[in-house]
Amino acid sequence: MGGCFSKPKPVEVKIEVVIPEKERSKEEMSPNGKASPLIYKVNGTARHYHLEEHPIASNPYHNPKDVVEASVCHVKDLENGQMREVDLGCGKALLIKESGEFYAMGHKCPHYGAPLVKGVLSKGRVRCPWHGACFNISTGDIEDFPGLDSLPRFQVKIEKEKVYIRASKQALQTQRRTKMMAKCISLSNYNLSSTNVLIIGAGAAGLVCAETLRQEGFSDRIVMCTMDRHLPYDRPKLSKSMDSHPEQIALRPKEFFRTYDIEVLTEMQVAAVDIKNKIAVFKDGFKMEYNKLLIATGNTPKALSCKGKEVENVFNIRTPEDANRVVKLATSKNVVIVGASFLGELSFCRLAFFNFPCVPADCHRPSPSLSLPCWRLSFSKSKCKVLHLGRGNPGHEQGRERRGCQGTRVGQRGAVMCLLSPQMFENHRVKFYMQTEVSELREQENKLKEVVLKSGKVLRADVCVVGIGAVPATGFLKQSGINIDSKGFIVVNKMMQTNIPGVFAAGDTVMFPLALRNNKKVNVPHWQMAHMHGRIAALNMLAHGTEISTIPYLWTAMFGKSIRYAGHGEGFDDVVIQGDLDELKFVAFYTKSDEVVAVASMNYDPIVSKVAEVLAAGRTIRKRDVELFVRHGKTGDMSWLTGKGS
Ligand SMILES: Cc1cc2nc3c(=O)[nH]c(=O)nc-3n(C[C@H](O)[C@H](O)[C@H](O)COP(=O)(O)OP(=O)(O)OC[C@H]3O[C@@H](n4cnc5c(N)ncnc54)[C@H](O)[C@@H]3O)c2cc1C
Ligand code: FES
Repeated sequence: MGGCFSKPKPVEVKIEVVIPEKERSKEEMSPNGKASPLIYKVNGTARHYHLEEHPIASNPYHNPKDVVEASVCHVKDLENGQMREVDLGCGKALLIKESGEFYAMGHKCPHYGAPLVKGVLSKGRVRCPWHGACFNISTGDIEDFPGLDSLPRFQVKIEKEKVYIRASKQALQTQRRTKMMAKCISLSNYNLSSTNVLIIGAGAAGLVCAETLRQEGFSDRIVMCTMDRHLPYDRPKLSKSMDSHPEQIALRPKEFFRTYDIEVLTEMQVAAVDIKNKIAVFKDGFKMEYNKLLIATGNTPKALSCKGKEVENVFNIRTPEDANRVVKLATSKNVVIVGASFLGELSFCRLAFFNFPCVPADCHRPSPSLSLPCWRLSFSKSKCKVLHLGRGNPGHEQGRERRGCQGTRVGQRGAVMCLLSPQMFENHRVKFYMQTEVSELREQENKLKEVVLKSGKVLRADVCVVGIGAVPATGFLKQSGINIDSKGFIVVNKMMQTNIPGVFAAGDTVMFPLALRNNKKVNVPHWQMAHMHGRIAALNMLAHGTEISTIPYLWTAMFGKSIRYAGHGEGFDDVVIQGDLDELKFVAFYTKSDEVVAVASMNYDPIVSKVAEVLAAGRTIRKRDVELFVRHGKTGDMSWLTGKGS
């Protein structure tokens, strides 16, 4: 927990900028003064922070031993628009040439370490090929997400037609840079039950909001609260490495929160918000006054409502504890996964592919005429069965027939899932059952024993994972006066503001205007989007007047293969596919009339990032251009995307 608290009052507060010792030299290398933030007063006004106030030595190369300088190529070795990984002896850098200028920065994406040289360079930034994070080539700053850190930026000089890079050895090793941040300045009348900024929810949206405030020089009290036991963690990893401990997937270590005075109240549930008096009321009766509020409470997974639903060993995967328990209990046991949802599929694949050896089971195909899927896996070697049931329609069979699934029926994530060939599942001993749902969970000594289907079939089960969707966690706001739609989503504008002044909302819990779709209000429950929402909310708490403008980017992994998705496919009326779905090497363009509205791919990097960049530039990709591309079968060649469209 941060250690420096203050009660809001109308006085000017001084900024203290904190840079971890190891980060200092890297931060100092930011070339454009961006690292010089504003000083915020508590009354919301700001002035520029002057360099002479900077508490850090101005020479980043105070110790020459910490620095390496090397000639890396001839100026003519790189064309404009090209990137190259170059070795400086004690680490690599990414060298970029754009508009005749050279730039150098870290070569590995600070999110999960993707080689950025395989990403997409376009107009001053590089987009990561794996999950779409974007980095400014002049500063190394992260501009789109996922991930929290920026890249170290290195100095480049040209001498006698040769390109030289000068870099801190440590930065070459770490390949990441935490932005310079303010911390809280202690004010005299500190009050425990009062904060300037209260963030309800410590997921991606909440954490990025807090970090952005500090990066922008906000130096008053920030409190985050969460129902979780843990500091913010990487939630998507829960379905991909289910046995991870919370510390292994923590987004930031404890010391980080202390250093930057971001207080996190764990296991604290907000029960109501009194917007008139600006007070959050916690479940245990504790009350906290706030000046600005962010609601980033995410989703609550739906539970089964059938007979026996309260029996033990039935899980939604939401927390590390859930994921860990499923892995522990599922080993050599019978597992039933209920739900055709994204999460259901992920858990299924994770359990099936990584944890349990498979041997052939008696597979049969689903009938295309039936609409409710049920997949079954059998693992006789480990005496483990996995069964996957669903009430929705992920459209696998339709997918097989030219993947003609309709956007209105399958939705965003379903749209990705429906591309996957039944062959892929069959290869992993998947058996499809259709038109069924769970009617009862039976127990023995209060532990799950059997799952009974509406069809009358009884499935032996020790563990059941439920992935049947989620609802926004906004029940506690019902009487608050905050605008909530009929499905429970908080409605916000482009600046993530609710209808109540000073109250912002972000992440899975909001409906927001998506520029890509003519500002139609949408809910995009993705990890990347939650980061961006949190950042925009923070900037607007500081009255920056910043509007959200980002391309939704989703990724996931199945059977060890990565699926990427960008855009917003809702309402698509056709899918144009290049590649081979059965070989899991394809790109699928979702089109609506003559326009590409989204793209998904497997083993086809960096096409999704490329399309995301084209869409981010405000250009339209025409269906006819895509069809031409497919007809000519130009695998790997993406030059047609450049300069096309309108
Ligand atoms: C298992 C799993 C796998 C996923 N995989 C992917 C993936 O591969 N790719 C992808 O793009 N997305 C994935 N997602 C979705 C992604 O995790 C979410 O989009 C993202 O977490 C949303 O962030 P958020 O900050 O809005 O909310 P969350 O991360 O859900 O955090 C909500 C926070 O609010 C707190 N909270 C809720 N109610 C209250 C209250 N009343 N009082 C106090 N605190 C409260 C919670 O405790 C939590 O801290 C996955 C989600 C899950 C569950
Ligand atoms: S590895 Fe780059 S965004 Fe994930």
